[in-house]
Amino acid sequence: MAKASSRGVDAESLVERFGSPLYVYDASVLQKRSRELVKAFTGMHVHYAVKANANPALLKLIKAEGLGAEAVSPGEIRAAELAGFKKKDISFTGPSLTEGELRFAASHAGRVHLDSITQLERWGKLRLGKEVSLRLNLGIGAGHHKHVRTGGDGSKFGIMPVDIDRALELAEKYSLSITGLQQHIGSHIPDGSDYIEGARLLLRTANRFPDVRHIDFGGGIGVPYAPGEKRVNLAAIGKEVRALARAFEKGRGVPMSFALEPGRYVVAEAGSLLVSVTDIKKTGKHTFVGVNSGFNHLVRPALYGSYHAIRNASRTGKKVAISVAGNVCESGDVFAWDREVAMPELDDVLVIENAGAYGISMASTYNLRALPKEILVKDGKAKEVTFDRSPFLVQP
Ligand code: LLP
Repeated sequence: MAKASSRGVDAESLVERFGSPLYVYDASVLQKRSRELVKAFTGMHVHYAVKANANPALLKLIKAEGLGAEAVSPGEIRAAELAGFKKKDISFTGPSLTEGELRFAASHAGRVHLDSITQLERWGKLRLGKEVSLRLNLGIGAGHHKHVRTGGDGSKFGIMPVDIDRALELAEKYSLSITGLQQHIGSHIPDGSDYIEGARLLLRTANRFPDVRHIDFGGGIGVPYAPGEKRVNLAAIGKEVRALARAFEKGRGVPMSFALEPGRYVVAEAGSLLVSVTDIKKTGKHTFVGVNSGFNHLVRPALYGSYHAIRNASRTGKKVAISVAGNVCESGDVFAWDREVAMPELDDVLVIENAGAYGISMASTYNLRALPKEILVKDGKAKEVTFDRSPFLVQP
């Protein structure tokens, strides 16, 4: 929840009103980040990666900023549709799809980036459309953890350079025209250089595809999480990518369109997880401060070792090193080890920051505990926007 300080929307008041744990989103932060993207990448389509946070209340705000949507499952497509995104503004990329999922994507998304030779062949056999787009894996990978670096032959994603000839053959066999190319090199790319390098390589490779009219450079733009981490220079990345795109279009001599697919950049800093202190235990080695949430609600620290800033919203005072532990029955369920925070007392509210991306969207009901409620703060007012996912989970 960034720095919402007006009466009634501070962390303690929200917990008093709605209970705890709570995910809280600040609309103004999401709008600011969306506008930065649209400005930096003027002339390009910015498709928000719904997987970062599929809450329809947020999707509506993102749509109102002029972004499109990028989906990886029928459920995400349905969430985008509910928020008002039109078919032409929804793109789709997904690994390991069933025939039903591929058919659903073909009829609900404006563009489907096929992830493998198998998908391409299936598309051709099922006659899902004359035009196709391919997701390429050109060997460049970047990101904050090996789980989210998606380039190279260690990654399951995309069509590799050795398979491009086969893709061209299949296109001919099924009378398909390869009009689009996409890549996504990874997530939370610390600076722009790998992203730009990836864009350059994708454009160079695009010269092997005579019918290509659309190029999508993927997502992955990072945000600062830990103290001292710098914000990426979005304007500079945009300038460089746009210049590469313009030069490519000029070289081809036909009108082209270009896109990117940021998820984290739009929503990460707009969200916080508010939790309440339920236990305090000293072990000799650590001071464990137990809270009423855990990796079932925010898995990033346990899964990737990710850093999320934590502050005590209930008191200031001397900061001490505490380990903020969740209530899940696993010892890896710790949000932060030995972190300097104003020493809490029972029932204090702790704010786990920058949790808007890959927070609730990766949350589970492990240990049979409910998901947190979700609250949107907009124009100084808070309202509950808890997302009931069940209607979206129907398998086509
Ligand atoms: N496009 C595709 C095809 C993707 O696979 C992804 C993310 C994106 C766009 C958006 O990437 P972003 O701009 O958000 O970095 N759970 C991990 C991140 C997983 C990202 C998966 N793909 C985390 O919490 O760090």
